[in-house]
Amino acid sequence: MIALASDHVGLTLKKVIMELLEEKGLEYRDFGAYTTQRCDYPVFGSAAARAVASGECDRGIVICGTGVGISLSANKIHGIRCVVCSEPYSARLSRLHNNTNMLAMGSRVVGEDLARMITEIWLETPYEGGRHQRRVEQLAILEEKQILE
Ligand code: RB5
Repeated sequence: MIALASDHVGLTLKKVIMELLEEKGLEYRDFGAYTTQRCDYPVFGSAAARAVASGECDRGIVICGTGVGISLSANKIHGIRCVVCSEPYSARLSRLHNNTNMLAMGSRVVGEDLARMITEIWLETPYEGGRHQRRVEQLAILEEKQILE
C-alpha cells in the first residue's frame, strides 16, 4: 500500500502518479488534498508519513510545488526517510543506500513524464543493506537523541 499526499499545487501531478500506480497494479491511499483550494502542505505530508511510520502503508509519495515543504513535513515524523527528487539518479541511490521510505517531488519542478520515471525507479529499486545499514541506523539514533554516541 502506497500512501499519497499533496497540497493544492501538487494535486494534478498526484493524479498522474495515481494513474501510474494503477497501471502497475499497486494499491494506494490518498491522504489529501482532494481539491485545488489553497491548503497547507504540512497537514497532508505528515498524514501520509504517519501512515508509513505506523506500517499502515509500505511507502509514501508526496507532492507540493517544489517537493521541499512536503518532504520536510514528512521527515518530521519519526521513522521517515523522505527524499525529494527531480532526477532518477538520486531516486535510485536513495533506495540503494538510504532505504528511503518516502519520495517527494515538485510539480513546479518536474514534468509528468519525468515524475513517472522517477517514481518507477524509486519503487523498483531495492535497498542494498550491508555497509549502508549502520548509517541508516545512525539516522534513527539522531532522530531520538540528536547526537551519535
Ligand atoms: C505553495 O505555494 C508552495 O509553497 C508549496 O506547494 C511548496 O512548494 C512548498 O514547499
